[in-house]
Amino acid sequence: MPKMFIIDRDGGQHEFDLEPGESIYEPLRELDSGVEALCGGMCSCATCHVYIESDWAAKLPAPQDDELELLEETESFKQGESRLSCQVKMADHLCGMRLTIAPEE
Ligand code: FES
Repeated sequence: MPKMFIIDRDGGQHEFDLEPGESIYEPLRELDSGVEALCGGMCSCATCHVYIESDWAAKLPAPQDDELELLEETESFKQGESRLSCQVKMADHLCGMRLTIAPEE
């Protein structure tokens, strides 16, 4: 199973094994300092914002317009790294992906 490495909002480090096709926000919701994911993955709240290290982000499908619009409205947007974790699905070629949970807004 592909693995991903997380740094939470308190600097804590975690690793998770995910099934290919699973949204990466699922385990992030379970962390004490993880994402809120208030809209339940409907791409309408941006509370699941993460920074994916740019080498890994480049391997992802480009964000859809609605995801990008939400991200660009956040104060903590980082071009090339910001993604909504509810819109990113794990895949075998993403094994080892590293990401940091963006600050709360
Ligand atoms: S959970 Fe709301 S946008 Fe991702």
